[in-house]
Amino acid sequence: MSADLAQDGTPGGQRIMRRIDALAAFSADPAALTRLYLTPQHHAAATQVEAWMRAAGMATRMDAAGPVVGRYAALLLGSHIDTVRNAGKYDGNLGVVAAIEAVDALKRQGLRRDFAIEVLAFGDEEGVRFPVTLTGSRAVAGSFNSASLAVADADGVTLRDALLRFGLDPAEIAAIARQPAQVLGYVELHIEQGPVLEAANLAVGIVTSISGASRFSVTVDGVAGHAGTVPMALRKDALAAAAEMVLAVERCAQTTEGLVATVGQITAKPGAVNVIASRAAFCLDIRSAFDAVRTAAVAGLTADMHEIARRRGTGLSILPTYDEAAAVCDPALMTALHASAARLGIATCALPSGAGHDGLALQALCPIAMLFVRCKGGISHNPAEAIAQADAQIAVQLLADFLQHAEL
Ligand code: HGY
Ligand code: MN
Ligand code: MN
Repeated sequence: MSADLAQDGTPGGQRIMRRIDALAAFSADPAALTRLYLTPQHHAAATQVEAWMRAAGMATRMDAAGPVVGRYAALLLGSHIDTVRNAGKYDGNLGVVAAIEAVDALKRQGLRRDFAIEVLAFGDEEGVRFPVTLTGSRAVAGSFNSASLAVADADGVTLRDALLRFGLDPAEIAAIARQPAQVLGYVELHIEQGPVLEAANLAVGIVTSISGASRFSVTVDGVAGHAGTVPMALRKDALAAAAEMVLAVERCAQTTEGLVATVGQITAKPGAVNVIASRAAFCLDIRSAFDAVRTAAVAGLTADMHEIARRRGTGLSILPTYDEAAAVCDPALMTALHASAARLGIATCALPSGAGHDGLALQALCPIAMLFVRCKGGISHNPAEAIAQADAQIAVQLLADFLQHAEL
């Protein structure tokens, strides 16, 4: 049987891999996959995804916050097609391509279920271009905050202007919110982005929960000075203060069970070898599967950073930019996914997700579930991100079986 377009309607792992490669070509940087929200690359990828949805028998549209919607019926499937900078090509994209493949398998077998299926290709899961994220999934869930339209990217382009340039009308975002009665659930296939499945020698896993996350934009203000003349004891060095705060973040996560915390980006001004930094700015990402652990860590670190600023005589601003509670996956959807695995003789396990996903926003709308696919070395957010075609085949057959048999 050709793994690409099997005539018996079996979904094709080979076509998934070919389509992932095709999507990877839509990048701002030809040498390092980068596709940010509302960019020409996002538009080109969305257009391609829409074409595949139509070929799979879906009616398609692009909603006001950017999700590309293919409606075959009303269970929600999908993932995101925006990427981080210098990304891997499977994060998000695999879930969209695999969902289309699973629906296409239904079409090729002439199967219809007594519920609808929508495949959504969200455009802002990473939250890299703007200091907000989950824009599309929040809009679908009805929790989009219109104040977000005023946030700007590094070039000063507001989310509102970017949506208008993309051909969308921000005023229509509120109207795309689904009603809970319209939606049976949301099921997302995604690479694990961690080492658990590979270590267990499993192709797929069924997710139990998605970690909650809090993100902040932190700015430390000191006093610029001559690197050669200002005595150490008289300095208000913004970068040194920020560095002490970054180490406090790391120490907190290293000593707190079930918590991870990351400072992935830092800048210093004026940024000269012989000038004491007057301003340092960094972003902070704190996560845990347990909301109480995360909120306690946020409180503790906020106090620690203020203490460091006080002791060093620097100013400090800590701006919350993102806060999503942990999501528990729906037991009934998980049971149905496990049943599909059993029916197909696919070994699997249950595991939590340390990474965030659009399900964090959609949990407010409907039951959610996720199917993880093994990725080589657990590497993600890195061009070295990779999966085996055989694992794509196993995962998409499990998803297609779920679509055919799940009682929702
Ligand atoms: O940050 C995350 O966990 C996701 O990849 N956006
Ligand atoms: Mn992702
Ligand atoms: Mn990601």
